[in-house]
Amino acid sequence: MKYYKQLIGQKCYLSPPAIEDAGIYCAWLNDFNISQYLEPTYSITPEEEIEILKNLRKENKIFGIHEMQTDKLIGSCGLHEIHPVNQTAMMGIFIGETDYWNKGIGTEASSLLIDYGFNVLNLHNIYLYVYEYNKRAIATYKKIGFRESGRRRQGRFFAGKRHDIIIMDLLSEEFTSPYIKLITPK
Ligand SMILES: CC(C)(COP(=O)(O)OP(=O)(O)OC[C@H]1O[C@@H](n2cnc3c(N)ncnc32)[C@H](O)[C@@H]1OP(=O)(O)O)[C@@H](O)C(=O)NCCC(=O)NCCS
Repeated sequence: MKYYKQLIGQKCYLSPPAIEDAGIYCAWLNDFNISQYLEPTYSITPEEEIEILKNLRKENKIFGIHEMQTDKLIGSCGLHEIHPVNQTAMMGIFIGETDYWNKGIGTEASSLLIDYGFNVLNLHNIYLYVYEYNKRAIATYKKIGFRESGRRRQGRFFAGKRHDIIIMDLLSEEFTSPYIKLITPK
């Protein structure tokens, strides 16, 4: 078994990413349906993705998102730029299997990751960047409690147009974890 139910929700769980899945990540990241929402807008090979996964694991906390019932890998999420003094980190997430969008999985996976960030890593502020045209992601983050804290005006160029990049953040005291019982010492 190459997957581990490390952070467990109802619809999905988060497991450390398996290097053998680099080809799946690569397929998602070369698909503009997904990469239009990500930075950078990828064009990568499986060999490059293997190196990216190995390097990401060194200083970031990244996870594969798996459907609970089938163990199927459907996406990825992680905390990056973790700052131990400021207790801040940048969150990223994508569900690469588009059939799984709008089923509540992004909300649940994000909540598991944030719970881990605040209640295991002892972070205080988790922030993220989202393009203004990504209405689904913005709705997801607002449901969790993120609020807009700034904008990089016209900071994103995609498909021939410039778009604002919205900065959103969430403080530890603003997050009510539905999952904390799963990582409370027994
Ligand atoms: C963003 C993403 C992680 C969200 O995950 P998800 O599982 O699709 O999201 P959820 O089902 O948990 O929630 C989506 C919410 O957005 C709402 N929504 C969907 N399309 C919308 C739109 N065009 N405008 C406004 N709200 C929208 C849904 O109604 C739902 O809210 P509700 O539960 O109140 O009805 C996922 O769609 C994804 O990976 N997208 C591509 C990559 C990406 O955008 N990553 C984020 C980069 S910042």
